[in-house]
Amino acid sequence: MKLPPLTIGPFTAPIPLVQGGMSIRVSTSALSAPVAECGGIGTIGGSALPVEELQADIRKAKSMTKGVIAVNIMFAMKNFYNLVMGSIEAGVDMIVTGAGFSRDIFKIGKDTNTPIVSIVSSPAFARLAENLGAAAIIVEAKEAGGHLGTDVSLRELFPEIRKVVKKVPLIAAGGITNGYEMAELMDKYGADGVQIATRFVLTKECAVSDEFKQVLLNAKKEDVVLTTSPVGLPGRAVNTPFVRKLALGEIMKAKECLHKCLKKCDHHYCISDRLMKAHRGDYEEGLFFTGENVYKMHDILTVKEVFDQFVRQAESVYKES
Ligand SMILES: Cc1cc2nc3c(=O)[nH]c(=O)nc-3n(C[C@H](O)[C@H](O)[C@H](O)COP(=O)(O)O)c2cc1C
Repeated sequence: MKLPPLTIGPFTAPIPLVQGGMSIRVSTSALSAPVAECGGIGTIGGSALPVEELQADIRKAKSMTKGVIAVNIMFAMKNFYNLVMGSIEAGVDMIVTGAGFSRDIFKIGKDTNTPIVSIVSSPAFARLAENLGAAAIIVEAKEAGGHLGTDVSLRELFPEIRKVVKKVPLIAAGGITNGYEMAELMDKYGADGVQIATRFVLTKECAVSDEFKQVLLNAKKEDVVLTTSPVGLPGRAVNTPFVRKLALGEIMKAKECLHKCLKKCDHHYCISDRLMKAHRGDYEEGLFFTGENVYKMHDILTVKEVFDQFVRQAESVYKES
């Protein structure tokens, strides 16, 4: 049966598939515009970018598609407010935010008519986000890549949050690798859509280096670990030499703060620097964020091939009308 569309505020994506925002410069317009063009919601990772760069990328994405373009900005960023206001000024359709909780963002959303989508990992924050005016809520579970707000699996966490969110679309994220799982989350768990990210790193369009994609493709189940981050949350990443050094406590505090990206940073290493090293493909020194189920992915596809595969698989088993 045909999948239903996903409507968030005034925006409707024909396919209920959100591409998760990925910083720094992992999900740019190069990825998000084709996602939107395929009928999903394309999300630019806005955290730690200069405001002007983010605005230029939003404008570029909007010129490439008439589909829905979001920007993801972590509340933990020092220039959170400027990135939000800059994104709205540049014409982004909606703001997605997580890694901390901002109450002010909902007022900005109301004042500027911009839907605010909250990423949460607990029923309490889901309820709060809905009460404050979130236009949709993303449930991000422990299988997700990058910074994590929970150690609970998607199939345990989602039902708890489904019970408390009554009015707005609820989207499931973390470890989803194919359309059968997408249909399962929608049919059996009552999700209004799913968010996936790691699968989109392994696309031709994703802006990271080929070496980054190869690190993910080579990762076996036991190579994906939790590591520490100066953000103060655990992060899911590939167990590369840098991550092993971190686990051994071998990383020295950065001498000076070059990027000044976080509101609160414990400086045990520079996260912006390490993520950019990974982007360039520096296996020894980079930090390669990934979802837990990357080991189930064995190929680099185009964004359209990912969509065709997900939709074909999901619609072959999806039953809700
Ligand atoms: C490389 C990478 C970078 C990420 N960066 C961010 C980010 O900047 N902000 C955020 O809220 N989530 C971030 N995430 C999480 C994703 O948006 C998404 O919710 C999650 O990875 C979904 O699980 P999946 O990768 O198993 O599909 C990142 C994930 C990856 C793999």
